[in-house]
Amino acid sequence: MKQYDIAVIPGDGIGKEVVPEGLKVLNTVADIHGGIHFNFTEFPWSCDYYAKHGKMMPDDGLQTLKNFHAIFLGAVGNPSIVDDHISLWGLLLKIRREFEQVLNIRPAKYFKGLRSPLANPNNFDFIVVRENSEGEYSEVGGRIHKDEDEIAIQNAIFTRKGTERAMRYAFELAQKRRGHVTSATKSNGIFHTMPFWDSIFKEIKEVYPNIETASYHIDALSAFLVMKPQTFDVIVASNLFGDILTDIGGAIMGSIGIAPAANINLNGKYPSMFEPVHGSAPDIYGKEIANPIGQIWTAKMMLDHFGEEELGAKVLEAIEWVIEQGIKTSDIGGSSATKQVSEAICKRLLSL
Ligand code: NAD
Ligand code: IPM
Ligand code: MN
Repeated sequence: MKQYDIAVIPGDGIGKEVVPEGLKVLNTVADIHGGIHFNFTEFPWSCDYYAKHGKMMPDDGLQTLKNFHAIFLGAVGNPSIVDDHISLWGLLLKIRREFEQVLNIRPAKYFKGLRSPLANPNNFDFIVVRENSEGEYSEVGGRIHKDEDEIAIQNAIFTRKGTERAMRYAFELAQKRRGHVTSATKSNGIFHTMPFWDSIFKEIKEVYPNIETASYHIDALSAFLVMKPQTFDVIVASNLFGDILTDIGGAIMGSIGIAPAANINLNGKYPSMFEPVHGSAPDIYGKEIANPIGQIWTAKMMLDHFGEEELGAKVLEAIEWVIEQGIKTSDIGGSSATKQVSEAICKRLLSL
C-alpha cells in the first residue's frame, strides 16, 4: 500500500468549502485504486487563527509541514479581519518562499459545455509557468517614507538562477507538448529587469533549437490571450505577470473557480503545495455555490506530481463529463451546489 501524507490547510472563505470536496475526490481515487492511501492532517491556519493567536500559523508551523509529502491548500485571506499583505505573507507566501516552491504551474484549457466569455474559444490549451519566488513580489529593500513627501519603494528582484530555472522548465515542458514557448516581457517600459529577462530568454532558446518561441509585452499578451488563446502552448512569466495571466486563463475558460495550480519545489528538500488559482471569494462564502472544480483539478495536479498520472487523467475525465452533463455551479451558468458537483465527479470516477 502506497501512503501519501498530505497536510491540508483549508484557509479562509470558500477554501473551507472546496477543500473538503477535493478530499472526497482524492478518497474516491484511493478507493478505485485500492493500493494507495491518503493520510490527511488538517491545520486550521487562517485569518480566524490569526484573530485568536495573533499569527497565521504557529512558530513551528513550517517545521510541522516539512514532513508531509505535499500540502493541499484552499485559499488564504479575509481582509475584514486581517490586512491581506499580513495574512498572505504570514502563510501562503511564507510557505512558497521557505519551501522553495520556485515555480507555479497553471494550466488553462477549453472544456466542452463550458460557457466561455469568448465568442470562439476554439480548443485552447496552454500552461503558464509562473516564476514563484522572486520578481515583483519582494520584501528586499522596500519601505514607506511617511515624512512630508510620502513615498513607497518596492524593489523587483530577478536573479539569473531564478529566471533561467523558470525558462528551462518551460522549454522542457514544451518539448513534451506542442513545442512552443512564449515569453511575457515588458522590456519597453521596465528599464532594468525586463531587458535582463529578455537576454536570458534569448540564451535559453538557443539551447532548444527545436522549440518555437515568441516574446510579447505583457499588455499585448493579455489581449492575445483573449483574442487568440489557441495560439499559445507554454507561457513563461515573472511572478506578477504570471499571476495576472492565470486569472485571465481562468476567465476565458469560463470562471476563475475552475483554474488549478501547483507550487513546485524542484530540489526535493521540501513539499510542493497544491492550491487553486482563485482566492477565498468572501462575496460568495457561505452560500454553497463555490465552484469546487479548481480545487479538484488541483488535486489532479497533485496526483500527477506523485506519479499517479493515470489516476490524474481519470479525475480530469470525470470533471469534463460532469461539465458536459450540465452539473455546474452558477459561475459557469448552472444551478448546482458545490457538493452536487463534487459528488457527481466522485460518482463518475467510480464508473470509469
Ligand atoms: P477571488 O479569487 O477570491 O475572487 C474573485 C471573484 O471570483 C469573486 O467574484 C469570486 O466570487 C469569484 N470566485 C473565485 N473563486 C470562485 C469559485 N471557486 N467559484 C465561484 N466563483 C469564484 O479574488 P479576490 O476577491 O481578489 O480575493 C479575495 C481574497 O482571497 C483576498 O483576501 C485575496 O488576497 C485572497 N486570495 C487568496 C488566494 C490564495 O490563497 N491562493 C488567491 C487569490 C486571492
Ligand atoms: C495567487 C494569489 C496570490 C499571488 C496572492 C493572494 C498573494 O493571487 O495565488 O494567484 O499573488 O500569488
Ligand atoms: Mn492570483
